[in-house]
Amino acid sequence: MRFIRVIACLVALPFVALPQTASPLKAAPPNQYIGNDQCGICHVEIAKDFFRNPHYKSIASGKEAPEKTGCEGCHGAGGNHLAAGGGQATIRAFSQMTPAQIIDTCLGCHSKDLSRANIRRSAHTEADVVCTNCHSVHHSTTPKFLLAKKQSELCYQCHAPIRAQFDMPVKHRVNEGVVQCTDCHNPHGNFAASWRTGTGSNLVTASHENEEPCLKCHADKRGPFVFEHASVRVEGCSGCHMPHGSTNAKLLKRPVVFTVCLECHNGAGTFGRENLGVFVQSASHNMLDPKYQRCTSCHVKIHGSNSDPRFLR
Ligand code: HEC
Ligand code: HEC
Ligand code: HEC
Ligand code: HEC
Ligand code: HEC
Ligand code: HEC
Ligand code: HEC
Ligand code: HEC
Ligand code: HEC
Ligand code: HEC
Repeated sequence: MRFIRVIACLVALPFVALPQTASPLKAAPPNQYIGNDQCGICHVEIAKDFFRNPHYKSIASGKEAPEKTGCEGCHGAGGNHLAAGGGQATIRAFSQMTPAQIIDTCLGCHSKDLSRANIRRSAHTEADVVCTNCHSVHHSTTPKFLLAKKQSELCYQCHAPIRAQFDMPVKHRVNEGVVQCTDCHNPHGNFAASWRTGTGSNLVTASHENEEPCLKCHADKRGPFVFEHASVRVEGCSGCHMPHGSTNAKLLKRPVVFTVCLECHNGAGTFGRENLGVFVQSASHNMLDPKYQRCTSCHVKIHGSNSDPRFLR
């Protein structure tokens, strides 16, 4: 490819580059916009495919000036680059830019969307993971969003342990394409979560503006219920469930139900039955009887009930 490009440059040079260098006595002219067609003379491969790029859209409509879209919208004015016959030093080459410069360039146009409103404070930006780590403007392999790779592969490339979680026996079927990482995560960074007293990651998407993403699909767990199970609201779904995958039925954090419940309903912290407001189960519960170990066979409305304060129906 590089070979073809060099040939193309050699052919093109006499025609496009020479007039620029005609008068050595004058001060160098300010860098000027030269338009996509000029770039295409040398960068044949890239220009050839560019009509498919969403960044091509508004040029084709003729509504935008070249400095707003097209090659120079991202790479900056190309006048000096053309005069020099190419080179990395005369143009904004992303391969030479720092993460901060890259994010500034892209946000020059992409800062208005709500989905990126908090991107500068996201865990990704703080770790120098920026736009071009996930998006490939010229060599994208996905039909939408110019992703460098298919979404799950993109994320796994840096988050290898998460791949194993979605291979567990009980899981959200991300690898099978039923659910996507971005159903629950906003890779651009969200505002601090309003659940889990705000201690959650800001890379988690909110549904209905400020609730856990889970409720977007599991709407029946949303309530409001006449009798709320406080832990669903306060600790949130991940108080009892693993979000990705688990070896336990129903994605529970523990192998059997009662061990989840007894994390809170255990009487620790006080000597009484009333554990700082979290009741231990009453004397009727004989914990040696296996029947009582399946808490949710009686407390069936464990996520909240409209008819029973103890979630029995
Ligand atoms: C939306 C911003 C954007 C636009 C518009 C854009 N580029 Fe790029 N360009 C990039 C980024 C980012 C890279 C770094 C490689 C990557 O991420 O794909 C790049 C890389 C390049 C490279 C280096 C070689 C390569 O394959 O990576 C060349 C040459 C190039 N662009 C030329 C062009 C030309 C010519 C146009 C117009 C037809 C253009 N670019 C339009 C963002 C852009
Ligand atoms: C006269 C031929 C010519 C023209 C016209 C030209 N380029 Fe280049 N460009 C080159 C050459 C040669 C290189 C150096 C190739 C390399 O290092 O791989 C280069 C390098 C680049 C790079 C750096 C690639 C990298 O390594 O990251 C970018 C970006 C780029 N050109 C964009 C543009 C854009 C945008 C335009 C139009 C405004 C343009 N070029 C016009 C010849 C040209
Ligand atoms: C950690 C990976 C990652 C980073 C970093 C990232 N993106 Fe994205 N971006 C994605 C993914 C994945 C999607 C697809 C979202 C979907 O499928 O709903 C996306 C979607 C988009 C979209 C289209 C949908 C929307 O939300 O508007 C735009 C535009 C976009 N990104 C721009 C950017 C810009 C600009 C930057 C840098 C300032 C950036 N992205 C940084 C992964 C990333
Ligand atoms: C000069 C302004 C400008 C710059 C700079 C710019 N973009 Fe864009 N971008 C646009 C426009 C315009 C669209 C098309 C929006 C539309 O289709 O509604 C777009 C669309 C996108 C999309 C959405 C693609 C889709 O399939 O919906 C992604 C992803 C994206 N840009 C990433 C980037 C990245 C990464 C950078 C930095 C390397 C960047 N953009 C720099 C103007 C820009
Ligand atoms: C280029 C590497 C890279 C890619 C690609 C990437 N990440 Fe990350 N991600 C990181 C780094 C580095 C961190 C910060 C350190 C850490 O927590 O592991 C991070 C952190 C995270 C976190 C934890 C945030 C926190 O507050 O603790 C989540 C969630 C996340 N990424 C999701 C995603 C998703 C979803 C995708 C795909 C759309 C993705 N990442 C793509 C590198 C990447
Ligand atoms: C069903 C929703 C959901 C899906 C789908 C999902 N996540 Fe998560 N993920 C979460 C929740 C909830 C957390 C916990 C965040 C917190 O700390 O509040 C989390 C945490 C994380 C973390 C940080 C904690 C850790 O275990 O390292 C990473 C990284 C991560 N997810 C990556 C991914 C990737 C990559 C994908 C796609 C392959 C993905 N997630 C799909 C809901 C989801
Ligand atoms: C994009 C929609 C979507 C989102 C968002 C989502 N889920 Fe799910 N969830 C599903 C689907 C679909 C299933 C069915 C499982 C299957 O067959 O793959 C499921 C199944 C479950 C199950 C039952 C597993 C079983 O073995 O029966 C639990 C528990 C669960 N999800 C919890 C959560 C939690 C917690 C969150 C938030 C961190 C969440 N879900 C977010 C779609 C979603
Ligand atoms: C107090 C612990 C706890 C919390 C908090 C919790 N769950 Fe559950 N969840 C359970 C238990 C226990 C089961 C298994 C019920 C059974 O065995 O019948 C379950 C089952 C499920 C199921 C599968 C069966 C069904 O009822 O559809 C889904 C889906 C689910 N939970 C989603 C959620 C979501 C979404 C949240 C957050 C809004 C959440 N859970 C919060 C304990 C909890
Ligand atoms: C993360 C801590 C936590 C977990 C785990 C938890 N709970 Fe709770 N539970 C609470 C809190 C807090 C209350 C509310 C106490 C209050 O209203 O004063 C509560 C209330 C209850 C009540 C109503 C008691 C009453 O009379 O007020 C029942 C019944 C109950 N939980 C059963 C369960 C079962 C069964 C499980 C296991 C599936 C479980 N809980 C898991 C924290 C938890
Ligand atoms: C066989 C049915 C059954 C099973 C199994 C069961 N419970 Fe109950 N639970 C009840 C009934 C009925 C009540 C209300 C009457 C009472 O307090 O005895 C109750 C009450 C409670 C209360 C409220 C106590 C109070 O004073 O308000 C809590 C907390 C509780 N159960 C937790 C659990 C936990 C945790 C498990 C699993 C280890 C469990 N239950 C298993 C039937 C059951």
